[in-house]
Formats: sequence, structure tokens, C-alpha cells
Amino acid sequence: MNSKRSYNLYAAITPSLEPLLKKELLNLLLKKNNIINSTSINTNTDLKDNKNNNNNNNKNSKNNNNSNNNNNVELNIDIKLDKGGVECSGLSPEQLWTIAHHSRLSESLRVRLGQPFRSVNFNMLKSSLKDLPWGNFYRVTEHTLPECSVSCSHSALYHSNAVKDRILDHFQKNVIFTKKPILVNNNGDNSNNNNNNNISSSSNHSKIYVRLIDDMMQVSVDVGDSMHKRTPNKHVTDAPIRETLAAALLMSAGLLPQSDVNIWDPFMGSGTILQEALAMAIGGRATPPERYFSFQSWPLHRDDKYNNFIARINQEQLQLQKTFQQTISTHTSNFRLYGSDIDQRAIDATKHNIYNQFKFLENINDSNNNNNFIQLLHGDFKVIETKIKEQLQQDKQQQQHQHQQKLTIITNLPYGERIMTSNKNISDGLKSTFISFGKMIRESNIIKDVYVLNGHPKFIELSGVQWLSILKFTNGGLPVEFLKMKR
Ligand SMILES: C[S@@+](CC[C@H](N)C(=O)[O-])C[C@H]1O[C@@H](n2cnc3c(N)ncnc32)[C@H](O)[C@@H]1O
Repeated sequence: MNSKRSYNLYAAITPSLEPLLKKELLNLLLKKNNIINSTSINTNTDLKDNKNNNNNNNKNSKNNNNSNNNNNVELNIDIKLDKGGVECSGLSPEQLWTIAHHSRLSESLRVRLGQPFRSVNFNMLKSSLKDLPWGNFYRVTEHTLPECSVSCSHSALYHSNAVKDRILDHFQKNVIFTKKPILVNNNGDNSNNNNNNNISSSSNHSKIYVRLIDDMMQVSVDVGDSMHKRTPNKHVTDAPIRETLAAALLMSAGLLPQSDVNIWDPFMGSGTILQEALAMAIGGRATPPERYFSFQSWPLHRDDKYNNFIARINQEQLQLQKTFQQTISTHTSNFRLYGSDIDQRAIDATKHNIYNQFKFLENINDSNNNNNFIQLLHGDFKVIETKIKEQLQQDKQQQQHQHQQKLTIITNLPYGERIMTSNKNISDGLKSTFISFGKMIRESNIIKDVYVLNGHPKFIELSGVQWLSILKFTNGGLPVEFLKMKR
């Protein structure tokens, strides 16, 4: 931290997707600071592709010292790409909260505890730990040990459990100042011996993360993990894609926010892609209202200011929902979502998830109403394509409103049985799915663009379509590719 309330944040994402996350964070920080006239942002990679930001970047660039406005505040934010994440230095608490509540791509968030330091033996480690600002993040009065995760590579200190023991020992003696014994189990959880001490085993402390690479140690504090969990009580079917990944795919396809697009996910499963598309079209926060972040337990945290911030984003969200509702019911928006699946359980799950997350849509998306803009259909994709085509033609004939007549497919293809174990084999069912999906997208006159997340080595060949590879990464241990159909 540069000053007491300025944070260095590390936002993690699946390796290869870092540039997307950087673009998202930069957009968020610029957008949320639009009342601020002069913002100093350092980025150490080129963001020429960041179309939305070109104007803002010019306005807010480091060299542009526009100080005519009385509300002018100078910010110093440094945003850097790292493998598996993006580092933002010099964030104010409000910027940290903004990212925590609005980033759709971040998979987890951590704040750096001090700067990296060299550590080649336990004495060095012990003395460096004393210099870290633990007191900003951990309450002396909370007599528990935090969870602690350590990874060591290419370092003299190679035994991660031994490093963890030293860190927790330091924590116990110098952060929460207690000599009472606390046992730590191998999972990094604290399990205490109930017989001989009164220290609670459930900790409200933020988890500690330690990375030791080439003898340089960085200690970080958890802000929020499992950021993909946006839908309370989510119903899932087979192989759901994470919300953070679905958002990254939509963002890299550049489909949203746009008001004139018909999106179709023909293999929707529990509807994660549709849910994210809808959330991005509405705009605003990514978190459910009750989301707790571990910064709320830090001594540095200001509850009064945070409560004002939450009240403001709740208010903003209501306004965004109202605007969206209006554009849909007055047909000023041509945004439509189609989701389909051959499995009825998928339709039920998606319905539950969408209306659970977007309760306000229940009234305007009545299935008896011809103009409903979300359609969840049960059936094989070939049958559904015909249904949608008929519907779009009817719309055109009735000329109820000028509606976009083409569909953009974005989907996570079925993977089949655990194909990682049998790369060369493919079931007859999956083979015919890939062949007929390829035929449908080649021949359909209502399909404009097609984006697929593919994890099967046979798909490209069987589809008979030429594909452009947009992203390559690993998803759940499986190498996958995000592809766009070439026309
Ligand atoms: C990988 S899952 C999709 C997961 C989804 N993205 C999610 O987040 O839950 C693939 C889905 O394709 C569906 N499916 C398989 N063959 C199909 C077909 N011929 N027509 C329509 N859906 C099909 C399966 O029922 C399954 O729900």
C-alpha cells in the first residue's frame, strides 16, 4: 500500500484472458470516475483495442492535466498484466469496492500486504514479516488464526508447510498477540484443541496468500474468492460454465452492451451465458445484494462510507433496471435472448436462475405475451432454429416493430464423455451433433455470427466450417478454444 488507505489489488483470471480483464477494469475505473476530471492511469501494455475507452483515455491520460474543474482529483493508478491476473496499484477504498462489486471477469481478488521481499531462510522471513502492515487488515481482538495458503517455486525455502507454520506463528505472536495454542490442520484451516484453549476455530480473518518465487515473497490478503457465484441458490445441469468465463466470452465477442442483437444459446444447460448476457445488457453491479467481502472485517474499513457506497449502487441498479424495462416494453430495444436445450431440466434450471436473479423481469416477460424478449425453448437445435425463423418472419410480417432479423449464436458446446481420457474417440451421438450443428450454421439464412467454446479435438473437422480462433485457454483442466465462424 502506498498510503494507509490505498490498495494494491490483484485480480485473478484464467491465464490467456488477462487482457480482457485489464480492459474491463480500466473501463470500470474510468466510468466510475467520470465525475473526476483528471485521472492519472499508467498501463504498461497497449490497449489500442479498447474502443469504448478511447475518448475517456484521451480525456484522462496521464499527460493531460486538465485542472479547470473544482472537483478535480488526481488519481494514480497503475494497471499491469501478470500471468493469471491483473495488478492495480494505488486504488482508493471506493475503487476497490467498485471493482469488487462490478467486475464480471475477476475470478478472485486479493490485496497485497506490503511489497515483495527477499527471503532465503527462516530468519530473513521472520524479520521481514514484522515490517508488513498486518494491523490494517487483521483485528487484534479476533483470537483465531486465518486460513493460509502458501506456494513456493524456484526458492531456497521450498517447503510450503514449513513456511506456512512460520507465518501463522508470527501471526499468533505478533498480530493477535496470544500465546494460547492453536492447532492448524493440513488443509490450512485452523482446528483448535477444544480441551485446552478458548480460541474459536472459525475465523473471521481474511485468508492469507503467500507466493514465493525465485526467493521473492509476496504476502496477500483475500478480498473475495469464487467471484463467479452470482446467483444465490443456482440450479445447475451438466458441466455449467462459470459466470466469470461466460462474461469473458461475451466481452471478447463484443456482443454487449448493445440494444440490437438476438442472441441464441442452443446448448444453454443452466443458462449461464444467457444470464450474463442479460446482466451485461442491463448494466451495473455483478454481485448479488447480500455479497460479503472480506474487506468488511478489516480495521481499515470504514463501514459508514461503505454503506453509502452500497446505497448508491443499489439506487443506480434500480435506475438501470427501470431504463431497461422501459426500452423492452416500449420496443425501443431490439435485444432478444433465445435459449434452448434438448433436456427439459435445463429449461427448468435456466428459468429458475434467470427469474431468481432478475426478479423484476417476471412482469414484463410473460410467456403469453408475444413480445417476450427472453424465450426458453425445449428441443433439438435444428427444430428450434426453424421455430425461431418462423417467429422472426411473423414479426416481420406483422411489422410490430423494426426488429433485427438475424441471430448471433454464442454457446458452450457439449463435451461428451470425459474426452480428456480418450482424445481420439467420439461417441456416435456427439459426432452427429457436431455434423448437424455445422450443417445448420452453414445453411441457415437467419444466423449471422457463431461463437462457440469448444473442448473437443474433432469438432472443427466434423462441423465442416472454417473457424477463427479467438482465445485458447484451459477450462477445468481441459484445453479449450473460443472460436468464431468464418464467413
Ligand atoms: C456443456 S452443456 C452447456 C452448459 C451451459 N453452458 C451451462 O452453463 O450450464 C451442453 C448442453 O447441450 C445440450 N445438448 C446436447 N445435445 C443437444 C442437442 N442436440 N440439441 C440441444 N441441446 C443439446 C445438453 O443437454 C447440455 O445441457
